[in-house]
Amino acid sequence: MVAFSIISILSSLLLASLSYASPVSRQFSNSRLSLPSLDPQSWFCRLVHATPVHKLCLRERSTAISVKTRLGVAQGVVDVSGVNRFSVKYASAERWSPSSVVTAWALPNGSTNVSSLPLMCPQPFVDNSTYTEDCMSMILYIPTTLHADSDVPTLMWVHGGSFMVGSATNPGLDGSALALATDSIVAVIQYRLGALGFVAPNNQTNLGLGDAVNALKFLTTVLPSFGGDPSKITIAGQSSGANMIRALLAVPSAQSLFQSAILQSDPMDYGFLSSSDQVQLQQYFVSNLGCTATDSACLNALTADTIVNGAGLWQFNSSVYVVPAATQSEPMRVVNDGTFITSTLDSTSPFPSVSKPILLSNVVDEGGYTIYGSFPDPIPEAEYVAIVNASFGETRYEALMGSQSYAVGTAQNGDYRPQLQVLATDSVWRCATWTFARNWVSNGGTAYVGLYSVGASYPGNSAVPFCTEPGVVCHQDDIEIVFGTALIPNFAQSALITEMQARYKSFLYSGNPNPDDSSYTDWQAAGTSDVNAILLGSTGDAPIGACTPSFWGQSVAYDYQVFNI
Ligand SMILES: *[C@@H]1O[C@H](CO)[C@@H](O)[C@H](O)[C@H]1NC(C)=O
Ligand SMILES: *[C@@H]1O[C@H](CO)[C@@H](O)[C@H](O)[C@H]1NC(C)=O
Ligand SMILES: *[C@@H]1O[C@H](CO)[C@@H](O)[C@H](O)[C@H]1NC(C)=O
Ligand SMILES: *[C@@H]1O[C@H](CO)[C@@H](O)[C@H](O)[C@H]1NC(C)=O
Ligand SMILES: *[C@@H]1O[C@H](CO)[C@@H](O)[C@H](O)[C@H]1NC(C)=O
Ligand SMILES: *[C@@H]1O[C@H](CO)[C@@H](O)[C@H](O)[C@H]1NC(C)=O
Repeated sequence: MVAFSIISILSSLLLASLSYASPVSRQFSNSRLSLPSLDPQSWFCRLVHATPVHKLCLRERSTAISVKTRLGVAQGVVDVSGVNRFSVKYASAERWSPSSVVTAWALPNGSTNVSSLPLMCPQPFVDNSTYTEDCMSMILYIPTTLHADSDVPTLMWVHGGSFMVGSATNPGLDGSALALATDSIVAVIQYRLGALGFVAPNNQTNLGLGDAVNALKFLTTVLPSFGGDPSKITIAGQSSGANMIRALLAVPSAQSLFQSAILQSDPMDYGFLSSSDQVQLQQYFVSNLGCTATDSACLNALTADTIVNGAGLWQFNSSVYVVPAATQSEPMRVVNDGTFITSTLDSTSPFPSVSKPILLSNVVDEGGYTIYGSFPDPIPEAEYVAIVNASFGETRYEALMGSQSYAVGTAQNGDYRPQLQVLATDSVWRCATWTFARNWVSNGGTAYVGLYSVGASYPGNSAVPFCTEPGVVCHQDDIEIVFGTALIPNFAQSALITEMQARYKSFLYSGNPNPDDSSYTDWQAAGTSDVNAILLGSTGDAPIGACTPSFWGQSVAYDYQVFNI
């Protein structure tokens, strides 16, 4: 019972992003490639002067450029002033086999057009002309001022989308402004998604994670030719992309490939999958595929279209009924297989010794889209109680009701959606992240923890009116702040874009998000008890609420503890 009820509310929290993530991904291409060059003297350009959007006014007609690398001549374009952009294929793979790093520089999917952007990895909800299985590509954004011995850091970004959808061309992920502001190289990568990346008839696991490791290996080979220091790579991602970063932190063989990590809005309540759960999920997948696991002729004859929209979508919708730990949001995900990944990296088993600096952030209303999207009308007390009991099971329900943050008798106007929203945010994201920070610090690492109190509404989030209310920051609303891609930022957003990019620059260069000689709040590293979380967008510390060491993870178990993942 517990399992099924958890499903109903909490494990579906990331679903929000799915329905629109793909359609808008084309928006990126349009805005990058068909926007006319704007006249710098136009009213628009004078109006937006000194804001991030001003870069549109510097847009140049694409100029082809080439750079010699160890893998051959790289060809790219300048289409935002000051930044070279290279689309490149970093790895190739047979279907459901581990990928290998390319040995020669090549444009994505055999393209001959240096201006073109990579096709997405196969995924549902989009036209099949927008994707290809030959999708292990990345987009590099490189300041034109760099030269071969610049030795600058690199930020490698992993997109979100529940390991199911998304691409390097999603809205807001143009790395030009971030590369310029951080004096660094920005690499936005793609990796195999859904069943093609995480559930294989031949029992392979972690294929998409292996792709990300190969992206790192590719970068270490080519960065020197562009002015990047291969020993200064920071890996970063948002949502399931941050979950991927957490997985990379748990891959011993990848530790030499990066120096630090940034995890934005990782749903840490969902641990990795266990091998035994994964075996069941793989068998379930094969049972719906229409081929036996060993019939390679049959498996190879399936189109990507059939896989992602047939058995793949079915797997996404149904896995949670087969294995509750699968969750409804990330049923196809990283597996603690004991070889590639060797620890749960959570509170359920010995935490390895760690040393890298990490930066962890959440937004204040992570659960806002799902809760207010699922419940457009006020929730009275009786319904609230029933939802919490059904979602967490009676044991956790009793403990939750003892917390000031979630107790009954606290609603204004008889509406318990605010409490439910905080509960969703705390359980899936915020408190789970703080617990991770304490574990990280207790085992030798350094962690900086922040909470966004200002965001830029991500495309699609306006479908839920709550997410557009003043002061509300929903899941994904941090993306365009970090990338500096919010279209017309207001004063508070501009200030936060400048601050976060300065902090990221400092973190990329030194592992510390406090720039020298800046007037920004001192961002103290987390301790083993107090994580010293700061508000990003306003001054002061983030409220602790129920995210104390003794409540979440002790008095009330996370899902990864309940399911013993
Ligand atoms: C190359 O790709 C760009 C972007 O998709 C497109 O605008 C342009 O027409 C293409 N050029 C050729 C020669 O196909
Ligand atoms: C990707 O490349 C393959 C092989 O050249 C080609 O058949 C396919 O049409 C390409 N995909 C797209 C969507 O262009
Ligand atoms: C995958 O693993 C399951 C469980 O161990 C096993 O029954 C099955 O034969 C394996 N399939 C392949 C193709 O190796
Ligand atoms: C792509 O989609 C179209 C329209 O749904 C379909 O007719 C075609 O068979 C699909 N192509 C592949 C390779 O799956
Ligand atoms: C799976 O869920 C998606 C999104 O809710 C829905 O569009 C689709 O019809 C479902 N597919 C199956 C096979 O249940
Ligand atoms: C919680 O749910 C269980 C069944 O799932 C039920 O037996 C119990 O009465 C419920 N408790 C409350 C307080 O609603």
